[in-house]
Amino acid sequence: MGEVRTVGVVGLGAMGAGIAQLCVEAGVDTVGREVTADLGETARDRIGHFLTRKVEKGQLEQAARDEAVGRLTLTTELDAFADCDLVIEAIVEELGPKQELFAELDRICRPDAVLATNTSALSVTEIASATTRPERVVGMHFFNPAPLMPLVEIVRAELTADEPFETAFTFGGRIGKTPIRCHDTPGFVVNRVLIPLLNDCIRVLDESRVTPEDLDTGMKNGAGWPMGPCELIDLVGIDIHVHASEALYEALREPRMAAPPRLVRMAQAGLLGRKTKRGFYTYD
Ligand code: 3HC
Repeated sequence: MGEVRTVGVVGLGAMGAGIAQLCVEAGVDTVGREVTADLGETARDRIGHFLTRKVEKGQLEQAARDEAVGRLTLTTELDAFADCDLVIEAIVEELGPKQELFAELDRICRPDAVLATNTSALSVTEIASATTRPERVVGMHFFNPAPLMPLVEIVRAELTADEPFETAFTFGGRIGKTPIRCHDTPGFVVNRVLIPLLNDCIRVLDESRVTPEDLDTGMKNGAGWPMGPCELIDLVGIDIHVHASEALYEALREPRMAAPPRLVRMAQAGLLGRKTKRGFYTYD
């Protein structure tokens, strides 16, 4: 395939909207799909808001901002991806729905399209197995918040062919990210290290009876972290973190991977972090 001209993004939650924002800012026509028109509009507003802030801060011209927002087409139908060169999935972190979606995309998308998943901790190979073209399925794992975090992990699944893999890698660079190549092992590179590390931090909360505020102050001022672990888990979402921990524990059976009970209870209580305005901290 030549240059990627049109991208589809499935799921416009925090990650999908961030990915769509990167694409339109890079001048790429982007089709964004949400399950309802209202959710699509919420995502467009979110993207518009962050781009407006860039204009206010002198980082972007007003005309460029408007053109970028104009490159986003919203849809509720997967059929709208029929002409996309690359489709990036950012829906719920569950294997069943992802496999169902990839089977549908396989039916709808052009044979030469690249199908990418933003999964954090599931197997790209298992997701790809739902299609008849696993050689054209890759992982493109962005970090939260996608517009601000430079990294994207380009994940080669068992059957991924070189050309779609390199297409995804080149595209990651084109939208301003720093791509790295990795294989489809549990947690890929960063989450393999970060998830057990954050779980250790939460266990320290209980063991040493330090407060979340003091733990965050400690890691920011003693280890140079940009955010404390409690702030970071609130940002990522406690449910997402628990889910990723469970997937890694399932795959690797290392006790440090298992979600600490405190986080499981918080997730069960609906204390999911920033998105529910309550986690370790409360948000306006
Ligand atoms: N989308 C787009 N733009 C955003 C944004 C978002 N979600 N959030 C903030 N911005 C924009 C805002 O316009 C903001 O400016 P404004 O406040 O003037 O409007 C601007 O970015 C800068 O925001 P901040 O002032 O908050 O920026 P900071 O300098 O404080 O840096 C940070 C923020 C980059 C998030 C930094 O704190 C950091 O690096 N934190 C660590 C984050 C991290 O580790 N993420 C990885 C999580 S793990 C993961 O994602 C893996 C997954 O699989 C679980």
